[in-house]
Amino acid sequence: MKKSEIQKKYNKKIKLIKKYNYYYYNKSNPIVDDQAYDILKREILQLEIDYNFLKSRNSPLIAIGYKPSKNFEKFSHKVPMLSLGNAFSEKDLVNFEKKIRNYLSIKNNFEIYYSAEPKIDGISASLTFKKGEFYKGLSRGDGKEGEDITENLKTIKDIPKKISNKDFPEEIDIRGEVFIKNSDFKSLNEKFANPRNAASGSLRQKNPEETKKIPLKFIAYTFGYEKGLKVYNQSDFLKKLSEWGFKTNPLNKLTTEIKNLMENYNEIEKKRANLDFDIDGIVYKVNDFAMQRRLGNVANAPRWAIAHKFSSNKAVSKILDIEIQIGRTGALTPVAKIKPINIGGVIVSNATLHNEDEINRKDIRVGDTAVIERAGDVIPHILAVDKKKRLKNSKKYIFPKNCPSCGSETIKEFNIITKKVDAVRRCSSEGYYCDKISIEKLKHFVSKEAFNIDGFGKKIVENFWKLKLIKYPQDIFNLDFLKIETLDGWGKLSVQNLKYSIDQKKNISLERFIYSLGIRHIGLENAKLLSKHFVSFSEFKNLSKQFNYEDLINIDGIGETQVNSIKSFFSNEVNKRILNELEKVLLIKDANLISNDGLLKNKTFLVTGKLNGISRAEIKSLIEENSGKTISSVSKKLNFLIIGEKPTKKKVDYAKQLEIKVIDQAKFLKMLNKTS
Ligand code: IVH
Repeated sequence: MKKSEIQKKYNKKIKLIKKYNYYYYNKSNPIVDDQAYDILKREILQLEIDYNFLKSRNSPLIAIGYKPSKNFEKFSHKVPMLSLGNAFSEKDLVNFEKKIRNYLSIKNNFEIYYSAEPKIDGISASLTFKKGEFYKGLSRGDGKEGEDITENLKTIKDIPKKISNKDFPEEIDIRGEVFIKNSDFKSLNEKFANPRNAASGSLRQKNPEETKKIPLKFIAYTFGYEKGLKVYNQSDFLKKLSEWGFKTNPLNKLTTEIKNLMENYNEIEKKRANLDFDIDGIVYKVNDFAMQRRLGNVANAPRWAIAHKFSSNKAVSKILDIEIQIGRTGALTPVAKIKPINIGGVIVSNATLHNEDEINRKDIRVGDTAVIERAGDVIPHILAVDKKKRLKNSKKYIFPKNCPSCGSETIKEFNIITKKVDAVRRCSSEGYYCDKISIEKLKHFVSKEAFNIDGFGKKIVENFWKLKLIKYPQDIFNLDFLKIETLDGWGKLSVQNLKYSIDQKKNISLERFIYSLGIRHIGLENAKLLSKHFVSFSEFKNLSKQFNYEDLINIDGIGETQVNSIKSFFSNEVNKRILNELEKVLLIKDANLISNDGLLKNKTFLVTGKLNGISRAEIKSLIEENSGKTISSVSKKLNFLIIGEKPTKKKVDYAKQLEIKVIDQAKFLKMLNKTS
């Protein structure tokens, strides 16, 4: 390549990173994800390394971000707030450690310890304390100069305002991340694209009262300037931080050797989807401060730390079709069929479109090029479509006004609680009229929290339905086993097993039975309330004859929505027939048969880990049926901790410390004179 061409290529990339920086630092509204940003940064660095005639004021080697906005007074950081180099693979980590060994000239048999800390995707802040008092809080700004956001930071509960521990340094600036929990973000009314923007937006409010409205959190992880700090490594510093009243990340870990870093990385990546805050990688810091000092910095990043990034969870693909799925309650859910694409190691070919409003709002059409995001275990969804790439003949998507399964009219209900029309459109047919709804109802009937028929999964429901072996719940108890034996994939033994698991579940408590019916708005808790109210199945069934629905409103916890739903359930002839047929084949236990004098009387239980073949809900009702109680945390009040697969270590340790009996599933069942 000619020199001029290289310069042109480089300038183009610099222009792009300038734009990215502007949106990230000035607008708090990044226009690309971290991975795309990091790749671009790397490319620029590589060019600068390869061709030393290249130089730019905006080089990522020189500039760290963009100047802070003019709204707040600016102050210099006494010690600059650096950024971090990135690692994307094990190889990058090996290189990182190799460089450290070379630089410090340390032998291979000397183990380097690292503090491995989940990298929260929030806004970093620097908090200066003088004589134990929180005195000034700055944003990161461009790393050299930040904005004075003290008053806004003071509204954050996680930030101690006065620290009187004797070993707290005379002067120190504590640094950490300001963020908002995903669950809190969901309940915010304000329109922010993501939790990070919400945190950044609220920190930049002129009026601290506005900041206060948003439940910001703070996690501390490092320091800048200090006078009188008597700690010699990062892991001890983290311990001190929590002694001084700061929150630190509970997933921080002290570890050594790349293979352990990798193991920790993989473990945390698995947990990532279930965390209540967004993380985009793990930061590794050489633990020993003396080594950190010797290593120093290169350009704007320390040599002693690196960010090991998680793979990006977004990708671009084409929408091939929009399909409508019908749920148990008749809800029509649009699903985009997309050209299969690898997102973070998983091949994705479906993305949920949520509902009709969402399609209209984002103007999503068949044939569109779309950005798809896959966050953890949740169903992938469409972030946006690229309207520029849209073909001329593309047509607006029209949501079906009739149910694609049964042809009934589709409706949007008026929600009496929110006083709004639902975003969800539903099939207006009742109960088992619509085939798709029926299949979903049957899946619910056999599901874990309901009848929990072992080996009778969703696939079998679909298969048996197609073969016309089942249409209504009662059919499950009158199966033609001889016919099933002749089916592909079935044999004598598997049929025997199926028959056995079905027979086992013929004996059922009233509350589980009510739940299994899948009456809209009647979940586990409401089913329990109803079962306590009716006591027996016959009383429950009589509801349809006595029409005393209004009485139900007196049950604490049951509201108008539930009463209407029960009314509509009983007004349906098919449902009434189902109840009659099920009564013939089942033994539905009265609620008052649950004695107060059972085998587990006065005993409390807590489950940790996954149990084998028995759901959490089932074990809870087993305990309660036998007069025991379940509690939600390990405390002195707990008598038995039941452990399943992969129990929470903290709970087990704490229980042992309190000398609480720790038992496994088999031991628990033995207490009930059961074997399985
Ligand atoms: S240490 C020189 N520790 O990552 C050390 N940073 O790219 C730099 N971050 O601006 C800071 N979690 O916003 C450090 N446990 C952690 C971190 C962390 C998140 C962010 C921070 C910083 C950026 C560096």
